[in-house]
Amino acid sequence: MAGRLKGKVAVVTAAGQGIGRAIAEAFVAEGATVWATDKDVALLEGIPKAKKRKLDVLSSKAVNAFAEKVGPVDILVNAAGFVHHGTVLDTDDKAWDFSFDLNVKSMHRTIQAFLPGMLAKGSGSIVNIASGAGSVRGIPNRYAYGATKAAVIGLTKAVAADYIKKGVRANAICPGTIQSPSLDQRIKDLAQATKTTEAAARQAFIDRQPMGRLGTAEEIAALAVYLAADESSYTTGQIHLADGGFAL
Ligand SMILES: NC(=O)c1ccc[n+]([C@@H]2O[C@H](COP(=O)([O-])OP(=O)(O)OC[C@H]3O[C@@H](n4cnc5c(N)ncnc54)[C@H](O)[C@@H]3O)[C@@H](O)[C@H]2O)c1
Repeated sequence: MAGRLKGKVAVVTAAGQGIGRAIAEAFVAEGATVWATDKDVALLEGIPKAKKRKLDVLSSKAVNAFAEKVGPVDILVNAAGFVHHGTVLDTDDKAWDFSFDLNVKSMHRTIQAFLPGMLAKGSGSIVNIASGAGSVRGIPNRYAYGATKAAVIGLTKAVAADYIKKGVRANAICPGTIQSPSLDQRIKDLAQATKTTEAAARQAFIDRQPMGRLGTAEEIAALAVYLAADESSYTTGQIHLADGGFAL
């Protein structure tokens, strides 16, 4: 099926690689006008037909200026996020604050900036990328990360509840372990930290997935298309797992 997002304008954060990029590409393929944004604008090269802009979601000023420039949108996808590795005892204030700034406050910033345009139109779909790690399931060494992703779910439900009668929906996607450049880096880091091979470290990530394989960014993008499209018009305030059975 194509054209599921025809006539819609979408903003995607962290569209340079991984899940954000796959979502931006899938939205273009479904006929949306897509603003693909990332703090590293060079990474956006090669996304066909998208409008590409630098956007650092850590900056309220930049987010507000961008929203002003773009005007009302139909779809907002918040994909920016960072995985901090460690337990409570490994997490200093700096790591905690950075994790919350990038993973949670960034969504607060973009929603504050783009929601008024959606309310003016009387419609909109917000899709926040949470995680299977967090309130869905506790995962070792994902203390700060899990806390941020649980907060993303709380934020998503609150927005959904506040605007349910105004035509604006908000949903969260909880991916399992997805092949992406940042996962490759986490695998490298784990191999170094545990003095094992990268192949063994990769296998450890695969082994925590009951399906016995990593997910693809395209599998997450397919769900994002559904949640962004009018076909999901009766669905709001929910968490949607695309996790290969991670939460079983
Ligand atoms: N990969 C996984 O296994 C997995 C699983 C569950 C959830 N997630 C979540 O999915 C999202 C995307 O992760 P991924 O692994 O697909 O991608 P990734 O981590 O490989 O890429 C992240 C992108 O975010 C951009 N970025 C970083 N800081 C930014 C900022 N301040 N402003 C704007 N852009 C910024 C980077 O330039 C990069 O293009 C994250 O929120 C992550 O927590 C990922």
